Amino acid sequence: MYDWLNRLPKAELHMHLEGSLEPELLFALAQRNGITLPWPDIDSLRAAYDYRDLQEFLDLYYQGAQVLQTEQDFYDLTWAYLQKCAEQNVVHTEPFFDPQTHTDRGVPFEVVINGIGQALADGRRQLGVQSGLILSFLRHLPEEAAMRTFEQALPYRDAFIAVGLDSSEKGFPPRLFERVFARARAEGFPAVAHAGEEGPPEYIWEALDLLKVSRIDHGVRASEDPRLIQHLIDTQMPLTVCPLSNTRLKVFEHMSDHNILELLEQGVMVTVNSDDPSYFGGYVTENFLALHEHAGMTREQAQRLADNSMQARLLK
Ligand code: HPA
Ligand code: ZN
Repeated sequence: MYDWLNRLPKAELHMHLEGSLEPELLFALAQRNGITLPWPDIDSLRAAYDYRDLQEFLDLYYQGAQVLQTEQDFYDLTWAYLQKCAEQNVVHTEPFFDPQTHTDRGVPFEVVINGIGQALADGRRQLGVQSGLILSFLRHLPEEAAMRTFEQALPYRDAFIAVGLDSSEKGFPPRLFERVFARARAEGFPAVAHAGEEGPPEYIWEALDLLKVSRIDHGVRASEDPRLIQHLIDTQMPLTVCPLSNTRLKVFEHMSDHNILELLEQGVMVTVNSDDPSYFGGYVTENFLALHEHAGMTREQAQRLADNSMQARLLK
């Protein structure tokens, strides 16, 4: 089954480049940049990959991202991910990056976007992986900071295709970012937002009504609101669901409790994605495989999920 799932042509629409930093590369970059890490070795870092919730994961993710300093570092990170895409027949990807995670510790925006952008260009040419980058704002920081980041990004407008919203969800509703999303829309950028991962269905409504998003990232808590589910079906609004992430962050206790297949059968436009593959135990194929092994996903369902991912691309 792994090989069959691996061969399916797929698009990945929800992954954070910083979340594909494998422990081996993290240690190699720390050494290259003369950074002392709080973990003595790779195994003890891996042992820390055990989270009670989103925030515990994010603390580790932001700490790990500190080894990324030079253009070459961002290139190497992105290139490693694109090679995985090629291995897993992910023919199209729309990854996130979090500029504020880097600019707030003094890494110039230009360094980040050039390193990532060069790798994406090489991925298209050398690996045949199509891609469009999504600039994501950190919601635990004020909207003014997101606005400054967007203005900083505008000179590089050809390097990204959309804006997004991520980081700590609870207590940071989408409505706080209405102005920066309006500004991005006025500049011609479509939007996506994380909503309904740990936050309530109201956050999904806000992302739709106020941020005017083209996709919802996660969105699994929509199932608590029947009117919202009907709306998602009627509008065929894509949800970028991340099964391994949801179980590792305890959004669902077990993979067998996950609601993605129920949403699929109801007619919701759901897709399968890896979120932070290095931190959650797998890339796209591993996410499909987990659904097959623990939630009973059939080949026919896998095919529909893969077809949905191609259909829900922002960049066609
Ligand atoms: N949720 C919110 N923010 C994030 C995530 C996530 O799963 N991964 C990286 N930033
Ligand atoms: Zn995410």
